[in-house]
Amino acid sequence: MLHEKHKPFPQDFLWGAASAAYQIEGAWNVDGKGKSNWDQFVRIPGKTFKGTTGDVAVDHYHRYKEDVALMAEMGMKTYRFSIAWTRIFPNGKGEVNQKGIDFYNQLIDELIKYNIEPIVTIYHWDLPQALQEEYGGWESRQIVEDFKNYSITLFQAFGDRVKYWVSLNEQNIFTRLGYQTALHPPGVKDDKLYYQVNHHASLANAAAIKAFRMYVPDGKIGPSFAYSPAYAATAKPEDVLAAENAEELTNHWWMDVYAWGEYPKATWNYLEREGIAPQIEEGDLALLKEGKPDFMGVNYYQTTTYEKNPLDGATLEANFNTTGKKGTMEDSGIPGLYKTVSNDNLERTNWDWNIDPQGLRIGLRRITNRYKLPVLISENGLGEYDQVEADGTIQDDYRIEYLHTHLVAIQDAITDGVAVIGYCVWSFTDLLSWLNGFQKRYGFVYVNQHEEGEHDLRRIKKKSFYWYKEVIESNGEKL
Ligand code: NOJ
Repeated sequence: MLHEKHKPFPQDFLWGAASAAYQIEGAWNVDGKGKSNWDQFVRIPGKTFKGTTGDVAVDHYHRYKEDVALMAEMGMKTYRFSIAWTRIFPNGKGEVNQKGIDFYNQLIDELIKYNIEPIVTIYHWDLPQALQEEYGGWESRQIVEDFKNYSITLFQAFGDRVKYWVSLNEQNIFTRLGYQTALHPPGVKDDKLYYQVNHHASLANAAAIKAFRMYVPDGKIGPSFAYSPAYAATAKPEDVLAAENAEELTNHWWMDVYAWGEYPKATWNYLEREGIAPQIEEGDLALLKEGKPDFMGVNYYQTTTYEKNPLDGATLEANFNTTGKKGTMEDSGIPGLYKTVSNDNLERTNWDWNIDPQGLRIGLRRITNRYKLPVLISENGLGEYDQVEADGTIQDDYRIEYLHTHLVAIQDAITDGVAVIGYCVWSFTDLLSWLNGFQKRYGFVYVNQHEEGEHDLRRIKKKSFYWYKEVIESNGEKL
C-alpha cells in the first residue's frame, strides 16, 4: 500500500520492459542481414565468456510471437526493442533489405495487436561492420549522414505506428568501452579519439532528431543515457569538488549536449589543456542545438562515489575497473580530477554493482532541475545468476525486491515533481550479456540458453513475472 501522501503513477504510465537486437534476436546471417561489429568482435578468441556469440542469442527472430504473447499475458503497456541496422542496410547504407523491414513490421504489428506501445531504439551498439571497415564507423564524420539516412528509413517505414523512439542507446558506454577500455568493438584505447567519436555520435543523434520532426511530427524521441549520479565520499570540499568534476565529465558532458547543444565549460577547458578536446567544425554547434529531444531516456543501475584524486597527474589516464565480473559503469579515476571509491553504505549485487534506489530519485531530480525535460526510464533491472528449482520454478525474490525499491523511489520522485513517462525493466526475457554469456540474467522470463550443454531455448516465467503483472494491473498501487 502506498503512503497516502504519494502521488499516484500517471494513468497513461508506460509500464514495460526493454531489450536490444543483438542480445535477443539471433538469426545473425538470416534473410539478408549483414555483419555487424559485434558479429565480428565476438569471433576474436578470448573476447567473451567461453566464446559466446549472438548467433542464436534467445532466437527472438524466430520466436517473437511467443515472446509478444508472454508480454500480453503480463499486461505490458510498452516494449522497448532495438533495430539491427544490418537487417535494414546490410552494408550500413545503399540498398534497403526489404526482409529486414518486413521482420520489424511484423513485430510492431504483433505488439499493436495486443495494445503494447512499441518504443524503438534506433541504435543499440551493433554497427554495420562495413562502415567500420570503410571509414572507421563513429571515428569519421561520414557516420552522421549514414546514421541520419538509416534513421529516416526507419521513420518512413515505421513512423505511422511507432510514436516513441530512442535515438542512441548509452552513447557514454559504447564509446567508453569501444575507445577507452577496449572491451567492446572496435577494441581501441585512445582518449583523443574517444572524445572525437563522441562528438560525431552527438552530431548523428542531433541530425536524426532534427529529421524526425519532419517525418514523425506527432512522435516523441530522445536518447537513452547511462546515468550514474555522482556522490562525494565525504563532506570535505575537495571530495565534493571531485564529485562535481565527475558529474560534469561523466554525465553532463553528454546530457548538456543533448538538452542544450552545449559542452560544459570546466570539462571542455580541461580537455583542451590536455589536448584531447574534440575538433568542432562550423555548423556543428548549431546542429547540436537543433536536435533537441522530447525526453531524457535514463538507464539507471547504480551510483558512483568519488573523492579527491591525490595524484597531480597531467595526463588523462582513465584506469577502468571493468574486467571480469566487475561492473561496467565505474572507472577508477582521473589524476587531479577525481578517484572512484566504493560506497560502504550500499549493498552490492553478486555482479558487484551497488544497489541504490535512492540514487535513482536523486538522479531524476537532478535531470528535472537541470534540463526541465520529462524522463523515460528506459532501463533498470538486476542481473543475477538465476536457478531453476527442482519443481521447475524460478524464485527470483531478490529481483522483486530490487524492482520494488526502485519503483518506490520513482514514485517518490514523481511526488517530488519529476515527470516520469514510463519504466522499462531490463529485460523481458533473459538475453545475451554482451561479454558474459548467459550467466548474468535480467529477465522476467527465463530462457533455457547456456554457453554449453543442454539448451532448448524454452521460456519459463519467473516469480517476478507474476509480481510485475500485478504492479501493472494496479497501475503501481500494488508495488
Ligand atoms: C545497458 C545496456 O543498454 C544493455 O545492453 C545491457 O545489457 C544492460 N545495460 C546491462 O548491463
